[in-house]
Amino acid sequence: MTDTKLVFDPFSREFFDDPYDTYARMRDEAPVYYSEEYDFYALSRHADVAAAYRDFETYSSAYGIDLATVREGKIPPHKSLIVLDPPEHRHMRRLVSKVFTPRAIAELRPMAEEQIDRFLGQVDARNFDLVQDFSALFPIEIISQMLGVPTESRTEVRLWTDELLYREVGQMEMSEKGFNAVVELTRFYYGLAADRRKNPQDDMITRLVQAEIEREDDEPPTLSNMEIAMFASLLGGAGAETVAKLIGGAMVTFARFPDQWKKLQAERDRIPDAVEELLRYESPNQYNVRYSLKEVTLHGVTIPAGKPVFLMLGSANRDPDVFPDPDVLDVDRDRMGAPSLAFGLGIHSCLGASLARMESAIALERLLDFMPEYEVDFGKCTRVAMQNVGGWHNVPVSVAAR
Ligand code: HEM
Repeated sequence: MTDTKLVFDPFSREFFDDPYDTYARMRDEAPVYYSEEYDFYALSRHADVAAAYRDFETYSSAYGIDLATVREGKIPPHKSLIVLDPPEHRHMRRLVSKVFTPRAIAELRPMAEEQIDRFLGQVDARNFDLVQDFSALFPIEIISQMLGVPTESRTEVRLWTDELLYREVGQMEMSEKGFNAVVELTRFYYGLAADRRKNPQDDMITRLVQAEIEREDDEPPTLSNMEIAMFASLLGGAGAETVAKLIGGAMVTFARFPDQWKKLQAERDRIPDAVEELLRYESPNQYNVRYSLKEVTLHGVTIPAGKPVFLMLGSANRDPDVFPDPDVLDVDRDRMGAPSLAFGLGIHSCLGASLARMESAIALERLLDFMPEYEVDFGKCTRVAMQNVGGWHNVPVSVAAR
């Protein structure tokens, strides 16, 4: 136990730069942490976080999954998949799952490889910024191409998507720039969906337009242009920022655990295990916020109904009760026990997990060839200031000549 007061401020520079000491104290000293400043609760132990992800009847997603939205205590009018509760969530998930099949994702492999090779082919082979020149660029390109965004609009789509999650230190609400980006992005995808209704193409927006499910109620069995626009915008935020952070962070982590990088060099078949361990070690999605629908008492603390509750999966994935030596990256880690929560759990668990795993494995494989020996300029690394997502903004690396 430390003498200083335990403070978890999700918008502080200390949290963005290194949340792990705070997480360890939260798990030990305040497994149900209460923030006086923001009036929220936070769960940090693996068992509690996992149980809460499963319990959508207590912990609702319908009020949003970030603090600024959840603490409004209102259900937003236009809703995307990730902020729906059952039964709406069940219907929407069934609809979008029709286009997100394992086969559809496997078919994207050649395109994903092409994009990853293209971006890696453009960097300065000796010195480059792993995030800015590589990992921030290819995931959104892959999603844009999968959806059917025309080439000339892709940069705009990437910049709008970046704006959505960005937060200044101390800033909880979305900035005006961020809000404008949401409007522009939604308008853009709405237009694309309207166009594909008239001119079907071989892309995911067209397949979303055509997707249909049987329903027991009177709601339409297909998606509206607005629903497609909300879903497409979600994919950019949920699917691009996360992979960007995973791969950017991977090379920082391997620089700290060089034996693991050497091991992968020799045993390429371990790449999928390395992806899982990197996801656990520094989870790109650090937390999701829920809204308590009813009063719940846990570890002697009562969370009233109507409060924001942080589900700290980044902390759960470092819980020593579940992962021995949790602060060590170990590709050989036994993963037969409790699951890593990097992709969430329960009804909202990541729809794009197989795409994320595929892209990340391809990127690691290429980096193993491209930079077998490298150094990270730690002094110039900077971390992002974002809600929900954690990781690196700049990772300058120099690659040893071969
Ligand atoms: C390393 C990469 C990724 C990580 C760590 C990640 C993590 C997560 C997590 C933790 C959730 C649960 C959110 C919640 O419970 O509130 C989630 C949901 C989701 N993810 Fe991912 N994700 C990744 C990549 C992707 C990709 C590539 C896509 C698609 C292109 C994607 C699409 C989604 C969608 C649509 C949901 C919402 C599912 C629902 O509400 O039913 N994600 N993701």
